[in-house]
Amino acid sequence: MQTDDCSEQTSVELRIAAAVADTDRTPVGIARAVGLLVSRGEFVGGERLPTVRSLAGALEVSPTSIAEAWSALKRSGTIGTDGRRGTFVREQPSDGGRVWRVPVESGVYDVDLSTGTPDPALLPSIGTILRTLGAEPIVTSYLDRPVLEELELELTGRWPFVPERLTVVNGALDAVDRLVASLVGMGDRVVVENPTFAPIGDLLERAGAEVIGVRLDDEGIMVDELADALALEPGLLILQPRAHNPTGISMTAERAQSLAQLLSDTDTIIIEDDHSGAVADAELHSLGTYLPHRVVHIHSFSKAYGPDLRLAAVGGSAMPIDQLVRRRQLGPSWSSRLLQAILLRLLTAPGVDELLARAARTYSDRRRRLSRALKENGIEIGFGTGLNLWLPVHNEQWALVALATRGIGAAPGSPFQIGRADSPHLRITTARVEDRFEELADHLADAAVAAGGRSLPA
Ligand SMILES: Cc1ncc(COP(=O)(O)O)c(C=O)c1O
Repeated sequence: MQTDDCSEQTSVELRIAAAVADTDRTPVGIARAVGLLVSRGEFVGGERLPTVRSLAGALEVSPTSIAEAWSALKRSGTIGTDGRRGTFVREQPSDGGRVWRVPVESGVYDVDLSTGTPDPALLPSIGTILRTLGAEPIVTSYLDRPVLEELELELTGRWPFVPERLTVVNGALDAVDRLVASLVGMGDRVVVENPTFAPIGDLLERAGAEVIGVRLDDEGIMVDELADALALEPGLLILQPRAHNPTGISMTAERAQSLAQLLSDTDTIIIEDDHSGAVADAELHSLGTYLPHRVVHIHSFSKAYGPDLRLAAVGGSAMPIDQLVRRRQLGPSWSSRLLQAILLRLLTAPGVDELLARAARTYSDRRRRLSRALKENGIEIGFGTGLNLWLPVHNEQWALVALATRGIGAAPGSPFQIGRADSPHLRITTARVEDRFEELADHLADAAVAAGGRSLPA
């Protein structure tokens, strides 16, 4: 047993030594070499790595160098430790493997661009609102309306089209989850944007759907690609009308019109996930204005008012929303009316709309400034708004490791991609970047070209 372990260890050491041979033997060089071996599939998930001391001996470097390389690889989610097994390679998403995971626990990066979450400093404060709620219970019965009447009125007034039904659920993903559960059966075809928000792809795969990806240009979903996909008679299309996650693209009025025209000849139900809502900083062009009987529009309050409100409104076509409401009656039945009351006060409090319009501009400005700095480094990021940008890289895994060695976290792009991820990207959340754009862009550009700019032994 002992002998097997030792020989296995030695072969792993030899492979690492061969990969490191051409690079520098600094912690960064060692981390990158191992990262590349993992991304090439030469080290597979679960494979045990040598101990710090033994690898240090094999590479003739100090144990501190290996320990530093290991900690960068851990931060990037490439390797993990477990008391009994020691250090091992973590399972990586395979070809187009969609499993979305936040690679590491929060707080390990100096600059964490992996989160996709809003800047807490740009959320409206709810302290004053909480004090106005008073001592009276908001509702007292299971039998009260699932949506507060006043909130329903306020939301209907703000809706981009006249909804046949409107209800409130626990966030946009809760809405997508419930709609997919009731509308999608095993083998059903569903069209999504490619790339799309990773959990949407995961939910569809769980439901057994055949997922068809259509690409976007800078005006939204590409018309020709959607036409091809519609020829396959999908039951459902899921799209993000603005501040698309991960690319930042928003659908233009002209594109919305062309897509609606194309869809009008089909029976496809359309789910619009307006996940950024009031902080999207782009005008909303909803397909519901053309096809109100077939569109379910979701408006999340997470990004603008706070993820912990856990609320989104769902309005539009009667059939899917009635099904959602009926099915939910067998479970939680409604979303906390206490939270609904807080949302209603936030929606109607003086000054909050202006504050959110400012927050929207701030997010756009941060995204624009980082994009500009990247452009100085030869990397073109398309125009967009919202919390994220989509950074092309030569090699996803290596770019993640290269950034982790500098204390920067980013989200891997492959879980956002449908099918084979043949165009490696990282999703970079710009929402909380306030300064040092040039410095950050230098690091991102280095990581983006790292695998192409240097050659490691094949
Ligand atoms: C496209 C998309 N949908 C849904 C969500 C989740 O929204 P919620 O917090 O309302 O569930 C996100 C969060 O980033 C998202 O980007």
